[in-house]
Amino acid sequence: MAVQPTRIGLAGLAVMGQNLALNIAEKGFPISVYNRTTSKVDETVERAKKEGNLPLYGFHDPESFVKSIQKPRVIIMLVKAGAPVDQTIKTLSAYLEKGDCIVDGGNEWYENTERREKAVAENGFLYLGMGVSGGEEGARNGPSMMPGGSLEAYKNIEDIVLKVAAQVRDSGPCVTYIGKGGSGNFVKMVHNGIEYGDMQLIAEAYDVLKSVGKLSNEELHSVFTDWNKGELESFLIEITADIFGIKDDKGDGHLVDKVLDKTGMKGTGKWTVQQAAELSVPAPTIESSLDARFLSGLKDERVQAAKVFKAGGFGDILTDQTVDKKQLIDDVRKALYASKICSYAQGMNLIRAKSMEKGWGLKLGELARIWKGGCIIRAIFLDRIKQAYDRNAELANLLVDPEFAKEIIERQSAWRRVVCLAINSGISTPGMSASLAYFDSYRRERLPANLVQAQRDYFGAHTYERTDVEGSFHTEWFKIARQSKI
Ligand code: 6PG
Repeated sequence: MAVQPTRIGLAGLAVMGQNLALNIAEKGFPISVYNRTTSKVDETVERAKKEGNLPLYGFHDPESFVKSIQKPRVIIMLVKAGAPVDQTIKTLSAYLEKGDCIVDGGNEWYENTERREKAVAENGFLYLGMGVSGGEEGARNGPSMMPGGSLEAYKNIEDIVLKVAAQVRDSGPCVTYIGKGGSGNFVKMVHNGIEYGDMQLIAEAYDVLKSVGKLSNEELHSVFTDWNKGELESFLIEITADIFGIKDDKGDGHLVDKVLDKTGMKGTGKWTVQQAAELSVPAPTIESSLDARFLSGLKDERVQAAKVFKAGGFGDILTDQTVDKKQLIDDVRKALYASKICSYAQGMNLIRAKSMEKGWGLKLGELARIWKGGCIIRAIFLDRIKQAYDRNAELANLLVDPEFAKEIIERQSAWRRVVCLAINSGISTPGMSASLAYFDSYRRERLPANLVQAQRDYFGAHTYERTDVEGSFHTEWFKIARQSKI
């Protein structure tokens, strides 16, 4: 029991909630914690004792929990998105007072946050939807945080989040007030879409190196360790290197080879793709990463299809090329980097499109800054993105930033070699191929879209514009084509 009112409260003590509460307490902010299943409260209090007698106080009932917090109260919820959030708000609201703030730290759909912000405002409460990235470890030691909603509510927790967030040398804490409404959740959602893209591209690099280059897990471990010292340095490359070093504790060989090839998902990547379609923003790399997860789920069908197409061959059987391992590793690194630029360009453009639609005024460079540490997509590369937007905040696409354009041009031969080799070997690289197609379409002054427009006008009188004269035109294509033959 706290003698003095605590500075903040946290409700929802699954691992993320526990770790964030401990992190807050460790930064010197006395915190009250609550969970419906009370054993979680006791578990967290125990951990607080063990991890250095941290100022964390547990409560078994919502009323004493809420009343233990100093006013205006700030309560972070870390419960499952959707109905559990509504339920928690309802429980807490019974004891909250005007001016108190509720912060949802989960992966929530942004419109739910906007609905709740309006609903709780009727009682005079303030609301924030705060994306938190970094998994369990990040929550405990410094996540990246994306709070959006009431600015007044943000001001009430600013001192806390600035200390609790990951700290990056030269660029500060990985948190900033994102913007109004559900912008914090939206930005976190796109972060996750980019995360899907990154993971897929890494998986493709692995597949090409393993299936074509015949690299062993030991070699993959050293390649990824090496990549993590250069332009690809990032959390996801680092953990990938670790994965290749882990032996199976239930048998021979490496654990990665025993993991079933079916990727799960909780939904944020799917929302990202749905939003890209909704806003007409091309995001083929992120989309292909989602499709790759769907295809991975068809394991039984794939096993059958592999039998049907066995005679079609696979891998080096299809190519008569001998592969120079060293060259392949270098090419794949370059292909991965160039593809990554495309993927981030798509994610950033999606955020900008939504920001314009909603009038959020989001600053893309600032988002790249707060993703530099703490979150799953943290990478040295984000600094380059921040610099690109610092050079030109209105940049139409990261691809045309002079630095990125130069990097892509330098890597394009390698990128094309990897995609061609994969295609010729029957190994799918949907992310790298989609990225390359995105780049090749984006840089093309004239696309074959003229033909599609002509077809649309032909069968549906949908009209077309001309390259030489302003206006909207329709041609009786059928009549002209067929009559001229009569
Ligand atoms: C993070 C992660 C986190 C979650 C992933 C998993 O930023 O810390 O993104 O939010 O672990 O989103 O997502 P899937 O289950 O959809 O792969």
